[in-house]
Amino acid sequence: MQYIEVFAPGTVANLGCGFDVMGLTLDGVGDRMRIGVEPGADGLAISNRSGKELPARMEDNVITPAVMAMLEAYGRPVRVEITILEKIAPGSGIGSSAASSAAAVYGVNELLGRPFPGERLVEFAMMGEALIGGTPHADNVGPAVLGGVVLIRGYEPLDIVRLPVPDDFFYAVVHPDIVVSTKEAREVLPREIPLHDAVTQWGNVGGLVAGFALGDMALIGRSMHDVVAEPCRKGFIPGYDRLKGEVLSEGALAMNIAGSGPSIFALAADKAVSERIAERMQGHFARLGIGCKMYAGRVSNRGARIVES
Ligand code: HSE
Repeated sequence: MQYIEVFAPGTVANLGCGFDVMGLTLDGVGDRMRIGVEPGADGLAISNRSGKELPARMEDNVITPAVMAMLEAYGRPVRVEITILEKIAPGSGIGSSAASSAAAVYGVNELLGRPFPGERLVEFAMMGEALIGGTPHADNVGPAVLGGVVLIRGYEPLDIVRLPVPDDFFYAVVHPDIVVSTKEAREVLPREIPLHDAVTQWGNVGGLVAGFALGDMALIGRSMHDVVAEPCRKGFIPGYDRLKGEVLSEGALAMNIAGSGPSIFALAADKAVSERIAERMQGHFARLGIGCKMYAGRVSNRGARIVES
């Protein structure tokens, strides 16, 4: 059996207006796992040494459907062994499940001699998202596999565009100690959108994409605005509107819910500002008696990769 160690980063999905179609990659937080393959043999084994609680049954782990979809497409017998060494806290809203399935399919593909291009790996990793959310979306697995800012132009067929990350682009993410399942957060969304809101939303998605393509931070900031999901989901997060006002007055380009929450992210053109914002977010939840984890760093261009063991 041949082994490698692989890392896949945490991600922020939606970026405000881009529900299910945009995401970006975080530096400094992610999943690390040891992966082994043995061509000619059969079976998948997953063990967890991360210290984080994961589903006891292998069928309930997002890695299983992602790797099984890949092996089925590969069409030849392979035994895969995965040991999870570090894990983003499940349910955090910064792409915990995506990081697991992205790292797994990336690592197996490397060990098999890269039979699949990056876009196919995203499709396999999406099977893990389908297991937990019911809908196979790619706005976390896309950036987790490919890195950078990602637009999913279409799902049928999958059409992914990587956008450049501005040089000085920093994030603050706070994960409050409250539970909001992706399933629950999707159920509160409207099934129909008034035309006026749709016009606002697609104007902003266009503005966001143009902002990244042009490296125009101010355009990115004012486009990261959401009239569809944020109004329905912010009620899950205590004091959301007040916090948003504070974070924007602290100099953030934008603040919104990270994916389906409960994490919140803000973006800034300055590292010191992103760190101040992370502390302000943490203070907000502390005042409400809610513990939280905070992360601050650079928006990254790098997706899943092999790391030194
Ligand atoms: N785009 C998804 C959502 C991300 O907002 O439901 C959840 O992981």
